[in-house]
Amino acid sequence: MSKVICGLAVSVDGYITGREPGPGHGLGDGGALFDWYGSGDVPSRVFDGFRLTEPSARIFDELASRVGATLAGHTTYTDSNRFAEGAPHPTAPLVVLSRSDFPPANPRQTIVSTGIDDAVDVAKRAADGKDVGLMGGVLVTEALAAGLVDELILHQVPILLGAGRRFFHDLPRHIRLGILEVVAAPDVTHLHYEVKR
Ligand SMILES: NC(=O)c1ccc[n+]([C@@H]2O[C@H](COP(=O)([O-])OP(=O)(O)OC[C@H]3O[C@@H](n4cnc5c(N)ncnc54)[C@H](OP(=O)(O)O)[C@@H]3O)[C@@H](O)[C@H]2O)c1
Repeated sequence: MSKVICGLAVSVDGYITGREPGPGHGLGDGGALFDWYGSGDVPSRVFDGFRLTEPSARIFDELASRVGATLAGHTTYTDSNRFAEGAPHPTAPLVVLSRSDFPPANPRQTIVSTGIDDAVDVAKRAADGKDVGLMGGVLVTEALAAGLVDELILHQVPILLGAGRRFFHDLPRHIRLGILEVVAAPDVTHLHYEVKR
């Protein structure tokens, strides 16, 4: 059955961007969050050009291979220049959630403006039996609050960014997590959790 997962690169103090992110510079001054995509000598089987350390390549490719559709928040979409290549994942189509409606930038994209439940439904259909990967801190918090997330992966980078956009925002209740796997690579710790219901 299709699962909803979210794996983002995050600082130890909980930021998924540095200061002053915006269109065309989605991480702001927090570019170090993505250094581990190119810090090794193992080519990714899924993402062309990524060269990871061996422990990172194993967990990154396992997760990336599961994704059949990506669901992104509107801010992630605009900060990535509306994904000029079509979508952030090489093979998975992109669904974007906003409160407003607008035309997609290209045919690999679908815009949903009717709420988080509809957006996850549309993304699950697009994923065709594979998993849905969420992108965006506001979006994943909304999905957690709605009880729609199955797994969280924190690719935790050993840096304190001090400011930026947060992975998690306020939630209406506690959500318990189970530890599925912890993988320590030389420059990032991969923390893989299941969301308890
Ligand atoms: N570190 C990483 O791995 C990583 C990965 C991806 C992205 N990023 C960065 O992280 C940042 C994410 O920004 P963010 O967390 O502030 O925003 P976000 O989650 O990407 O997008 C938030 C927007 O999505 C729409 N949205 C979210 N929930 C909604 C709901 N329930 N109903 C309707 N619309 C909803 C709204 O758009 P409207 O305002 O249009 O209504 C909202 O303003 C970006 O700067 C991006 O570049 C980092």
